[in-house]
Amino acid sequence: MNHNIVARKMLLPCESKCWLRLCVEIFFGRTELIDPIRMLVGAMLFLILGVATAQTAGAGIKGTAHDPGIWSFGFEQQVCVMCHAPHNTNTQGPLWNRAANNTSYTLYASSTMNATPGQPGSVSKLCLSCHDGTVGVLDYGGATGGMTLAEASSCTNPLGCSGVLGTNLSNDHPIGITYDAALATADKGLNDPSTKTVTIGSTASRSGTIATMMLSGGKVECSSCHDVHNIYTVAGSTGTSKGLVKVGMAGSSLCLQCHTK
Ligand code: HEC
Ligand code: HEC
Ligand code: HEC
Ligand code: HEC
Repeated sequence: MNHNIVARKMLLPCESKCWLRLCVEIFFGRTELIDPIRMLVGAMLFLILGVATAQTAGAGIKGTAHDPGIWSFGFEQQVCVMCHAPHNTNTQGPLWNRAANNTSYTLYASSTMNATPGQPGSVSKLCLSCHDGTVGVLDYGGATGGMTLAEASSCTNPLGCSGVLGTNLSNDHPIGITYDAALATADKGLNDPSTKTVTIGSTASRSGTIATMMLSGGKVECSSCHDVHNIYTVAGSTGTSKGLVKVGMAGSSLCLQCHTK
């Protein structure tokens, strides 16, 4: 048997959190209930679980938005399993344990762009398997747990809703674009990614060319700017260590690694 599913079945030992589980089950549709009650429960959950993360840039994934441990309704006790598992995974990403994401996206378009955006690369699709708001965050390990990031029109989702990019990426920084020396030459406003060096992270840091530190398969993807594991990250624009950005936002330093503006 697939032991990812076993892991899911062992979730939430029935202690004091039982009533919370009930709330969650009611809110996320496992029990039929009329809408006003659902909304009330949702609002309650939001108040109780409006989780304040004590996230520190560079301190690793625990305690970040990607650690189910901070969600306090106790769905999952493991940090990695929503995204990776040791066995029975798929080939969409490294030991990838999430439902396949085959959505087609509306791409960024602009008359001044030199690059031609393609569909998001495989690494970005991994992020979008939660952040496009169509796939349940809890759809992992071969089970359908549901709960998309976009579930509520007003944000009663205890996981937060600010991170829903949707399937229309035309209002987001272009991804899925090849960024090489030829593009830099054609654009005249970009550094050559094969020679320009960049340092990512603060607590732990690494230096190398833009191509090695920020590109995936030679392309700009979500992971060009973010480190989902919160290792090579610095404090974001809010100064609260949120944002999981690889280079600081002060003075738009992140942008100026690639753009010469
Ligand atoms: C929210 C999803 C998510 C979680 C949770 C997560 N990862 Fe990842 N991981 C990714 C993605 C996406 C990639 C692909 C490339 C990237 O952005 O690093 C990846 C890549 C990796 C890789 C291969 C590339 C590399 O950076 O070495 C390893 C190893 C890895 N993760 C280990 C872990 C471990 C161990 C945990 C738990 C402590 C974990 N991850 C938790 C999303 C996640
Ligand atoms: C398993 C689902 C899942 C995957 C996969 C995932 N995320 Fe997230 N992410 C979340 C949730 C849940 C939040 C918190 C709620 C929100 O911000 O909407 C979040 C928040 C974030 C934030 C804001 C965090 C902060 O501290 O401000 C960033 C940035 C982010 N994700 C980037 C990524 C990137 C980049 C990837 C892929 C490399 C990725 N995520 C993959 C679920 C996921
Ligand atoms: C060119 C750089 C860049 C790329 C590419 C990029 N992001 Fe971001 N992202 C940012 C910056 C900068 C912020 C704001 C960070 C801050 O305020 O500290 C951000 C914020 C976020 C947030 C938090 C939003 C919020 O309001 O809570 C999420 C979630 C996120 N990005 C996910 C993604 C995903 C998923 C992708 C790929 C589809 C992606 N990003 C691609 C630079 C980028
Ligand atoms: C990893 C490198 C990289 C980073 C970091 C980066 N960009 Fe970009 N950006 C690019 C590339 C490559 C293009 C495509 C340029 C082209 O083909 O004309 C682009 C495109 C753009 C465009 C669209 C240009 C057009 O003609 O429509 C804007 C605007 C932009 N970036 C702003 C930003 C801002 C603001 C930041 C910081 C939050 C940022 N970029 C961070 C590489 C990057």
